[in-house]
Amino acid sequence: MKKILVVGSLNVDMVVRVPHMPVAGETILAEKADTVPGGKGANQAYAAGKLGAQTIMFGAVGNDRYAEIEKKSLQSAGVDVSRLIVRADCDTGLAWITVNDEGDNSIVVVSGANKTLSEKDIADNDDLLHSCDIVLCQMEIPVQTVLCVARRAKELGKTVILDPAPVPKDFPAELYAYVDIIKPNETELSLLTGAASSDYEKGADILRSRGVKNVIVTLGGAGAFVNSEAEGKHMLTVRPVPVVDTTAAGDSFTAALAVRLASGSSLLQAVRYANEVATIVVTRKGAQTSIPTAAEVPFDD
Ligand code: RIB
Repeated sequence: MKKILVVGSLNVDMVVRVPHMPVAGETILAEKADTVPGGKGANQAYAAGKLGAQTIMFGAVGNDRYAEIEKKSLQSAGVDVSRLIVRADCDTGLAWITVNDEGDNSIVVVSGANKTLSEKDIADNDDLLHSCDIVLCQMEIPVQTVLCVARRAKELGKTVILDPAPVPKDFPAELYAYVDIIKPNETELSLLTGAASSDYEKGADILRSRGVKNVIVTLGGAGAFVNSEAEGKHMLTVRPVPVVDTTAAGDSFTAALAVRLASGSSLLQAVRYANEVATIVVTRKGAQTSIPTAAEVPFDD
């Protein structure tokens, strides 16, 4: 089995469930608030570990109780957290998440230590990039750091998977050249390309024309659309399920994809598996708390 390195954010999520999203000027009441481990990077590392891959998480946390929540959760999934950077002068990242009765969420992130992860940190920990096979990045750390990771990983011949969430205003065009697989959802694809979010085929063509060989667009309950140089264009659907909370569905999709590629599956088989994992995640509450073990994923190769 190949090794997976996740470079990205760690946040603790403060989650409230409400009947509907509050509009500007509205106050609504929630029953309670849950504090759960999250962060796009940490969710991906947790999912990769829980699904059975050898996984290491690299990122930055503060010297506080939230960092302990994150570390404990990742360790419980078998993820190596020994190389996390602890910044004494920063807080661990926090996310405020509102989930409505349809299971949709809205998220506000206070980046804290995540925004201090620098190009120097990447250079100082170059051995991590040497030692892994697949690198997963998202965009809750500085964009220049993501660029630096992807550039170096490509130089070393690693497989680079980018989950461009959230899409930064200053997304660097150079990044496309270093990415083997990009996995936006339809909203992120639209922000990256200017194509309408309903026209994901056009959006995927645009990303392909920018040099990315494999584009996978996640489409919520409709499944995922693949546009791949080697495998062609495919719509891979998902089975319908009652949606409870979509938090971390995209993160677990990306991680499951990497896990399956790490064990030698084809891209399309890996996407089918990722669809199945994300389908389970949306039926459960929370971010890392919703991610299944490999044994819980009904999947036949
Ligand atoms: O993708 C879900 C994640 O986004 C949450 O866990 C939250 O921390 C934000 O990073």
